[in-house]
Amino acid sequence: MDKKEQVAREALKFIVQGNVVGLGSGTTASRFIEILGVSDIRDKIVGVSTSISSSKLAREVGIKTVDIDTVDWIDITFDGADEVDKNLNILKGGGGMLTREKKVRNKSRNYVVMISDEKLVDTIPAKFPIPVEVLSFGKDTTLKEIEAIGMACHFREDFVTDNGNLICDCKPLDKFDLQELDHRIKAITGVVETGLFLGGKKTVLVSDGRQVRVLK
Ligand code: A5P
Repeated sequence: MDKKEQVAREALKFIVQGNVVGLGSGTTASRFIEILGVSDIRDKIVGVSTSISSSKLAREVGIKTVDIDTVDWIDITFDGADEVDKNLNILKGGGGMLTREKKVRNKSRNYVVMISDEKLVDTIPAKFPIPVEVLSFGKDTTLKEIEAIGMACHFREDFVTDNGNLICDCKPLDKFDLQELDHRIKAITGVVETGLFLGGKKTVLVSDGRQVRVLK
């Protein structure tokens, strides 16, 4: 069993009959959806997807999904991450699904992040850039405005999000306060959302291939 499968199997234990379950995006979340799809609890929950691809996969494995707007809350969401730091700040959006992932997380009472141990870092962003979803209207102006904060940015090539927008991958050039950076990026007109998932209650499950640690 590889790390993704190990952490996904452990995550499944958090689901309770009757739950509305947020279904994340990416390879780890996909593994989770596949495992949920062959489990006994599959027909006793409903899913809320974070992307067109997770909706499609959920349908293929027999998980009933509903639109986020039809539920008052989501009981528990399971998603992957690109990096998680010592304070459990999370960097997401490597797959470009960050806005829907954040919308689903924000409506969730419990949030479970499934990662392998190499995604634990001291501070985010470490190796990955910060993805920023941007409207295509005025995109070059928006990029310059993000860069003016002190970031080096480029548009992800040949990529359009599920929302019809672009992803701008950004690396800070200096030391910065994460919260402040997030606020400053989001204050720019044309920016839809960032891949910084800061604060909030969460459980991080970390697989090292032998065991799964629980960080809270
Ligand atoms: C999708 O936009 C991302 O946020 C993913 O959840 C994240 O990139 C982790 O993906 P993997 O599980 O494929 O590493």
